[in-house]
Amino acid sequence: GGIHVFAPATVANVVCGFDVLGFAVNEPGDEVIMRMANKPGITISKITGDDGRLPLNPAKNTVSVSVEHYLRSIDRLDVGVDIELHKKMPIGSGLGSSSASTVAGLFAIKTLLGDESDPSALLPFAMKGEEMACGHGHADNVAPALLGGFVLIRSYEPLDVVRLPHPAGLWCAIVFPDVDVPTREARQIIRKNIQMKDAVTQWGNIAGLVSGLFMQDIDLIGRSMKDVLVEPVRSMLIPDFYMMRQMAMDLGAVSFGISGSGPSVFAFTRDEETAKRITQKLQQHLTNIKIGSNGYVS
Ligand code: HSE
Repeated sequence: GGIHVFAPATVANVVCGFDVLGFAVNEPGDEVIMRMANKPGITISKITGDDGRLPLNPAKNTVSVSVEHYLRSIDRLDVGVDIELHKKMPIGSGLGSSSASTVAGLFAIKTLLGDESDPSALLPFAMKGEEMACGHGHADNVAPALLGGFVLIRSYEPLDVVRLPHPAGLWCAIVFPDVDVPTREARQIIRKNIQMKDAVTQWGNIAGLVSGLFMQDIDLIGRSMKDVLVEPVRSMLIPDFYMMRQMAMDLGAVSFGISGSGPSVFAFTRDEETAKRITQKLQQHLTNIKIGSNGYVS
């Protein structure tokens, strides 16, 4: 038998919560089709939507490597599976593309084997995949991809993941400026030391954002989504970042920022129409300055 699993794109950091906050969108997302095989071991028979950029070699693909970690942990390396991977969003876009695939793969194998443990038990394996993809095993993409909605990584050691509520009627516009920003490099350029004054600003904003999510207070969410630590550095890698922010805010966005490590940017809005208009205008702007773009409204 086989199984078909979808896992969504995710926006990590949510502007102020570097490595500790993330949320899932309803689309786009990646798909994994997994089938049991007679021979032990993992094979990848097909990858679509990656422009030939991802390795079919199971030792080099984050999906198969994470699945193997999982099989080893439950002492089931005797199992044979074949994986088909269908990428439905650009790689290296800051939308948690590798996370979505990895989470879909792990959920597929867990389900095929009838493992009824809590899905969050898969997180450490998914984090291994992130470590392989960019050198650091952060959880702010994989946790929301696996659990849905908004998620807080309260602690990494020990891992403590908290699902957060969010207001109904919160829309997200996402635009992907087609420039290359590898997460590994986007992590290397951020400052290692921060000022106490900036730390105070940052944790005030994180607390404000989380409060806004609980209180369903979209204004509070919007004014809390400011980042004085990471965005000032990473925004340099994104064409016309501050101009795009101004455009989004003028069009009625509640907030605007970098999705994960970029180059995708996102805006929260109170309705679908505003989100669509922002996506359109920003895409148009990027095309005018001769940068390809993809837009999503979720
Ligand atoms: N929190 C991570 C970072 C997310 O900003 O580097 C990467 O997608």
